[in-house]
Amino acid sequence: MLNQPMNPHDQDQSYIIERQNIKSIILDMIAASFETSAVAIVWAFSEVLRHPRVMLGLQQELETVVGRIRLVEESDLPKLTYLDMVVKESLRLHPVAPFLVPHVSMEDIVIDGYFVPKNSRILVNTWSMGRDRSIWSEDAEEFLPERFTDSNIDLRGHDFQLIPFGSGRRGCPGMQLALITMRLVLAQLIHCFQWELADEVDMSEIFGLTLPKAKHLLAKPTYRLLAKTT
Ligand code: HEM
Repeated sequence: MLNQPMNPHDQDQSYIIERQNIKSIILDMIAASFETSAVAIVWAFSEVLRHPRVMLGLQQELETVVGRIRLVEESDLPKLTYLDMVVKESLRLHPVAPFLVPHVSMEDIVIDGYFVPKNSRILVNTWSMGRDRSIWSEDAEEFLPERFTDSNIDLRGHDFQLIPFGSGRRGCPGMQLALITMRLVLAQLIHCFQWELADEVDMSEIFGLTLPKAKHLLAKPTYRLLAKTT
């Protein structure tokens, strides 16, 4: 029965997936993947541009791992450990979904002495968790990828202090693709070109379901391309 294709004209089917449903699902997939990945890359690249020390660290790592003869490839990513720390640090300070996606509690529960009734709307504030000094120490507001050097904290949903992709069964199913895209795009931008800031980068945010930069980097060129390096 399960293997039989669904017929939209079959009146006996209790739930029918039609063209409209497929279009909505595809629209959801596009919105959940393109916007989020683009916003995350713009934040990370902006932080790197504002921190020449970090830019230099990435350039040196790329020089050592990839060299100047060829382009960065996906297979290089596991060896780019500093880049991985930069991505984690950027998603800590700039989570693309500052409240994740709204959840609902399925039963009454007491957490840390607080009673949460069944059917409560749950918003997980990853933005403030990323800036919490009791978790990240006094320099929580600073962009410091080195804080992850000897740390086991990962962002894949097991360490609750850093969950930019959520956690558990409703966590982001596109996380793996998103992390590869972020690291590869950043690596190629930094490996192929020499960048310099022409102006201060505006880091103000627009709050919403996602958290984009108020001024997109491309709206006004705040950086100059100095040279192509590969
Ligand atoms: C840096 C990029 C991305 C970030 C930061 C991100 C983050 C998130 C977050 C926080 C959620 C909600 C999780 C929760 O509430 O527990 C989510 C859900 C989702 N994401 Fe992503 N995402 C990214 C990229 C992608 C990509 C590339 C895809 C698809 C290819 C994708 C597909 C989805 C879908 C379909 C959901 C809804 C899952 C559900 O409701 O069960 N995301 N994402």
